[in-house]
Amino acid sequence: MIIASNFKTNHTRQSTCAYLDTLQQFTEKSGSRQDILVFPPATALDRFSVASNIRVGVQNAYPVDKGSFTGEIGLEQIDEFGLRTILIGHSERRHIFGETQALCAKKYDYFKSKGFEIVYCIGEPEEVRKAGIDAVVDYNLEQLEGIDLSYEKLIVAYEPVWAIGTGLSASVAQIDETHRRLRETIKAPLLYGGSVKPETTKEILEIENCDGVLVGTASWNVDNFCRMIEIADSL
Ligand code: PGA
Repeated sequence: MIIASNFKTNHTRQSTCAYLDTLQQFTEKSGSRQDILVFPPATALDRFSVASNIRVGVQNAYPVDKGSFTGEIGLEQIDEFGLRTILIGHSERRHIFGETQALCAKKYDYFKSKGFEIVYCIGEPEEVRKAGIDAVVDYNLEQLEGIDLSYEKLIVAYEPVWAIGTGLSASVAQIDETHRRLRETIKAPLLYGGSVKPETTKEILEIENCDGVLVGTASWNVDNFCRMIEIADSL
């Protein structure tokens, strides 16, 4: 399974190093078989000596090699650390920073052409969820417009906006139904994200069409994140 942590705007360079050290020791000791992804803030990126099943990625980047894009990083900055995993389309990028579907697709095409492993996020806002499952599926499929779903290094994360950072996860029934419907279109690994906690990890990972979790808040504590990996190992 894929167990991923998105640090967002949390952790420093120093605390990221300490986090990855602890994570590395944990996986060595437990012999974990999970695919573990960690997305630190851009200022904490580095070459980390971690096991091959732990991959560090970038939370965001502009689809250029280099250039004049103040505040952004491009391929040259990522290449310095040999990183090849990226998060694209996170709801915070879409809703807070106004990233359009066209920009998400442009980033996707660019980083696909560079051979990146891409965690591509989709998810509906609360009013769409209230309108029922067909509206939810339509909304999520629109966020796949321009995205090559046959790319072999694609991972899709279904993250309902109303569940992100709210402490209120989607229910097992909601995830099950949504993933089942999305699975008709998406053959890539399908993660769930949105207030996943150690206590809810088992029931979520047991959902048939759920191939892992993308975790924010609960994963910022490395012990919690290791607990989630341990739960995945126990299934
Ligand atoms: P959360 O964030 O776990 O804090 O809800 C999930 C995410 O945004 O990936």
